[in-house]
Amino acid sequence: MNKPEGRIFFGSEACETMHHYFDSCFASGRMIFILVDENSRKCCLPILLSNCDLNQYKFTMIEIQSGEKNKTLETVAFIWEQLTIGGADRKSVLINLGGGVLCDMGGFAASCYNRGIETVNIPTTLLAMVDAAVGGKTGFDFITYKNHIGSFYQPSGIFVFEEFLKTLEIRQIEAGLAEVIKYGFISDQSLLEKLYGSKTETLSFNELIQICIHAKIEITTIDPNEQGLRKILNFGHTIGHAIESFALNREIDILHGEAVAVGLLCELWLSVKYKSLDSNVLNDYILFYHYHFSHLTYVFENANEIIDRMMLDKKNSSGLLKFVLINKPGEPIWDEVITNDGVKECLEFYNTLKI
Ligand code: GLY
Repeated sequence: MNKPEGRIFFGSEACETMHHYFDSCFASGRMIFILVDENSRKCCLPILLSNCDLNQYKFTMIEIQSGEKNKTLETVAFIWEQLTIGGADRKSVLINLGGGVLCDMGGFAASCYNRGIETVNIPTTLLAMVDAAVGGKTGFDFITYKNHIGSFYQPSGIFVFEEFLKTLEIRQIEAGLAEVIKYGFISDQSLLEKLYGSKTETLSFNELIQICIHAKIEITTIDPNEQGLRKILNFGHTIGHAIESFALNREIDILHGEAVAVGLLCELWLSVKYKSLDSNVLNDYILFYHYHFSHLTYVFENANEIIDRMMLDKKNSSGLLKFVLINKPGEPIWDEVITNDGVKECLEFYNTLKI
């Protein structure tokens, strides 16, 4: 097989396809670059190389530093520099082995290098497996605004190896659960039953990942460039991104999934207040939130700081704050305008849960 053709591969099929892919790149003289960070180099690269029998192949490794604070133009420029020094040409391939931050930056770097080279995602975190690595959004943060610069650029293949989850700290897994439960609210409510009342270690991750990826592909196939339907994937993200951006600016340690978990809480509250969402849906989520995210103790004293950040979010326009809300699980609506006072109230609600 010459190119994995934009498909998603799991487990042993992923290994076999990856092996053939390396084989065909090698046979046709295409250079392979693998983008890693210190975590994926240490914990995941050896598993990938040995499980898929790739040690015999020559590739160039590009290592960047992990973390949202490094999701910058400087890091992207570093990737371009390393591709250039390594002799990458238009036929070269960039394989992104890492979490959401790395896949986003690698995808962006590939989308511009030589006007676009082939790229492949091998997500190593739950969050990247269910969301970031799928759907072709790429980019980096700019002057602390989340994903401010970016492109839509589809990877030619996505390879999911569930065993990488064993290399993660529990905090990373729980952050990923926020993106998983998001799909329960916007698309497949069977996820809510699967997640509620289960301990993290007893969850069937393979099943969860497949459900989420299936939902994401369905949505992004209909609306790849986020003109309408794809916006539902931003449930929990309007407030989540503003919190993340705010935290980034103040060097507060919060993972993307954790900010989304807070965002979901606030946006479910808004759905109860302004739409027809049953308050039991919010109450059930609050229990889930307390179980997985009780370590998040930050209180928002000044809602205006969050609102200011939201105004600069690309999802909002003409000074209006637009949200995805839900009428019930599986029934999302997008472009719902909420006033500044509405946002203040939902942040106050979040603050009261912390006391
Ligand atoms: N993470 C949201 C999207 O891919 O549209």
